[in-house]
Amino acid sequence: MPRDDAPRPGLTLEVQATDLDRDGCGLARWQGWVIVVPDLLPGEVAKIQLLQRQRSRWRSRRLDLIHRSEDRKRPTCILASDCGGCTLQHVAATGQQHWKERQLTETLSRLGGVSRSITQSHFNHQRSLGYRNRALIPLKREPKGSIRLGYYKRGSHRIINLNHCPVLDPRLDALIEPLKLDLDRAGWSADHDLRDDQGLRHLGLRVGHYSGDLLITLVSSHDRLKNLQTWATRWMDRWPNLRGVTLNLQPIRNNLILGKETRVIAGQDSIRETVCGLNLELDTSTFFQVNTPQAEAIITVICNWMKSVVGHGRILDAYCGIGTISLPLAAQGFEVVGIERHPTSINQAIQNAERNGLSKRCHFLHGDVDGLLASELSRCDAVVVDPPRRGLDQAVLNTLLACPPPYLAYLSCDPATQARDLKQLASHEGPYTTDELHPVDFFPQTSHLESLVLLRRVSCAVPR
Ligand SMILES: C[S@@+](CC[C@H](N)C(=O)[O-])C[C@H]1O[C@@H](n2cnc3c(N)ncnc32)[C@H](O)[C@@H]1O
Repeated sequence: MPRDDAPRPGLTLEVQATDLDRDGCGLARWQGWVIVVPDLLPGEVAKIQLLQRQRSRWRSRRLDLIHRSEDRKRPTCILASDCGGCTLQHVAATGQQHWKERQLTETLSRLGGVSRSITQSHFNHQRSLGYRNRALIPLKREPKGSIRLGYYKRGSHRIINLNHCPVLDPRLDALIEPLKLDLDRAGWSADHDLRDDQGLRHLGLRVGHYSGDLLITLVSSHDRLKNLQTWATRWMDRWPNLRGVTLNLQPIRNNLILGKETRVIAGQDSIRETVCGLNLELDTSTFFQVNTPQAEAIITVICNWMKSVVGHGRILDAYCGIGTISLPLAAQGFEVVGIERHPTSINQAIQNAERNGLSKRCHFLHGDVDGLLASELSRCDAVVVDPPRRGLDQAVLNTLLACPPPYLAYLSCDPATQARDLKQLASHEGPYTTDELHPVDFFPQTSHLESLVLLRRVSCAVPR
């Protein structure tokens, strides 16, 4: 006979959450198990019912909330409890900040062995909504005919149909409802994952935070969208700030939203943006930080630190994109070498340098950081790395460890992979020690966090 309190589906318990997971669910401990409770905040007590065991965890559902946290708030968006786009809308801004700061320091310590208190946090509670300058929203035409447009339901590939998204820049949010209506009327087939049909897959929107320029991109598996030109011209007439309408072709069923080919349907394929007073152009496919003022805040930290510790000299900006970090460094007087493998981005970086009169101090190299880093490293006084979520490849780490530059700024959008890399870069024997730690919230209302670690060399494997 199982004991009455042995964990089993259906058992009801009272638990207190002590943490949140990345999906914004509460985590409680009970008899050595981790209980995952949707919609329960740290400190809150609830009666729950166990649902299903997943290794050392139990999924559960919340029955009654017995003690409520002061950090609990009513979500701004009516779809927040279903839509997977935001996971922390029910947490007040200060609660989100505390949780993210704790997550960061614990992750760096647990996975990276780096015990460093936060130097300065960069959170902007006044702009915790309406901040996203880009959206790529899945589309699907319903069997009965209308278009569904929205992000996926949490834990599924089902679209939560929306007309508004409060984390989007209001200038993009204002486009969603009328565009959805037009996509409906245009009659184009749509299926984001190409499971049931071919045709439209995503709606891409971009806005220049400072310029107000707008760009609409239809991502489709093919180019047979009847009267597309007419619709695009209509949109250009309707929205004076619309700089262009483009069609991106993504016929392959993989997890990349954008395909390799983008065609201009009306206007042009880029928008203007300003970063730290410099004028940049970016297009549909190029990476750009989604929160322009927060990006400026952290780039300013990088520039000031480089100015104070390096002074002048040559800085390598690995994973440089369109030059968002390289150009402000060059404007400070540094000579900068940028490495980027996306061909459109590197061309835009070159043009952005010209646009700002910084070509003489900027050299942009097209290719893989893995292949190009070693030959550039010995000539540089400092390095900036801003890799994608997966962090630094082992080959890149090996190159840095073999010839560590005196100063290294590591900007990351995933503290877990950053911590993994720091385990090698900033272990007890060095070669680096962590000078400064800056969490920067680019993504309020979600569990994502950007983190900047500034590293100073304390030992050197190879004499320089
Ligand atoms: C997180 S983004 C950073 C871009 C830029 N630093 C910025 O702030 O806008 C990462 C960039 O690295 C590029 N990338 C990814 N893997 C790469 C690799 N192995 N070698 C060179 N560039 C790479 C991507 O195309 C993307 O532009």
